[in-house]
Amino acid sequence: MKIPPVKGTRDFYPPDMARRNWIIDGWKKVSVRNGFEEYDGPIFEYLKMFQIKSGDEIVEQLFSFKDRGGRHLALRPEITPTLARMVNQQINSLPKPIKWFSVPRLFRAERPQKGRLREFFQWNIDIIGVDDVLADAEVIFTTVDYLRSVGLKQRDVRVKISSRKLLASSLKNVGIQETQLLSLYALLDKYSKMPGDTFKKMLSEQVMDESIAKKVINFMGSTALSEVSEIIGTNAEVEDAIQELARLKELLEQMGVWQYCEFCPGIVRGLAYYTGVVFEVHEFSQELRAICGGGRYDNLLHDFGGPRISATGMGMGDCVLGILLDERGLFKPESKELDYFVAFVDEVYRQNVIELTMKLRSAGFVTNFSYKAVKLSKQLKEASAQNAKRCIIIGEEFKSNQLVIKDMATGKQELVDYDKFLSELKS
Ligand code: HAM
Repeated sequence: MKIPPVKGTRDFYPPDMARRNWIIDGWKKVSVRNGFEEYDGPIFEYLKMFQIKSGDEIVEQLFSFKDRGGRHLALRPEITPTLARMVNQQINSLPKPIKWFSVPRLFRAERPQKGRLREFFQWNIDIIGVDDVLADAEVIFTTVDYLRSVGLKQRDVRVKISSRKLLASSLKNVGIQETQLLSLYALLDKYSKMPGDTFKKMLSEQVMDESIAKKVINFMGSTALSEVSEIIGTNAEVEDAIQELARLKELLEQMGVWQYCEFCPGIVRGLAYYTGVVFEVHEFSQELRAICGGGRYDNLLHDFGGPRISATGMGMGDCVLGILLDERGLFKPESKELDYFVAFVDEVYRQNVIELTMKLRSAGFVTNFSYKAVKLSKQLKEASAQNAKRCIIIGEEFKSNQLVIKDMATGKQELVDYDKFLSELKS
């Protein structure tokens, strides 16, 4: 009986693994050069960790289960609650600010579709303890730093920035009640993901007053900060939020990445815990779902029983990114390559082949040999199939302590002294 893989999961055969590692190595390299330190947590947590603040959408997508002791647990759909828990646990001893990164394997029981799976990897960078948009700017800079490093240009990706402060103050200014905000965010987050009419209908269920609903729709469709006050009017809170975004722009200009960014007041983010600047990176034509998303979440640590300490960060999955890199031909994973393949002319030399292979491996060279007792020509074919740079051939010459080394790219062969070759390996 053949058992297929579970829907929404992936098997990583060696070439897929090379691509996955290439993405993850890039994420790690960029994190480290931007001053982030790596952390990780458990793959499952108490179910309530994700029910407290992640928001309805994530709660509906949880893979949850009961352990033998009757505890309600869930596979992690994101790592931000774990980060908050871990930081809270050692809040007094951790040097601040905290700049951490992680690449967790996450699980969400979503309907699998292009760029969305049930199991994926997500790069997270977070800065905790800096109550200044400078930290938001640094998170956005680090995100762009990675996208640039893999060859994505301004014409490929856009960082769309808004702010929950702007959204909340604007919505309240047009007459939405504070208590309505959270459920409205969940709907507004879907604005660009559903047909206009459907959105309008769903909005009318939450906002009965047609003139208010119209203003909300106009706000969501606005493409510049300057349009906001025209649509919804202004007050001190709206002005504050606009000032904060203006400072963010100034910082991103100083960091040299503003050309990748734009304000987009309708960016809301699906998660419930965001409190300030929010952003998403989208592929330019907007055909794919968001490549990544993040923002400020100043209350999450407190909501998890810790102190009031500000935090900001982002998460980037490997799925949409992988599709985009494929489409643009930017994937450059390293294929398997051998430094040496050791072959024999006659099976009597097999022991010498094994001994030399082990010596080469001990010296740090990627080396293989054939498991089969086949002709030299077949062994050379195997060497080519494994992308060997050089092939060492042990034959008659070995009796006079010599080896043949064949350069597999040029086909050139040279005779070398075995002892000299070994002493050079050591040095
Ligand atoms: P999120 O918007 O839920 O945020 O996810 C961020 C990114 O993870 C998405 O833009 C997408 O690239 C990827 N992603 C999410 N769900 C899936 C899925 N089912 N399949 C493939 N990729 C997916 C968060 O998770 C926040 N915790 C990010 C954060 C960190 N905010 C502050 N710090």
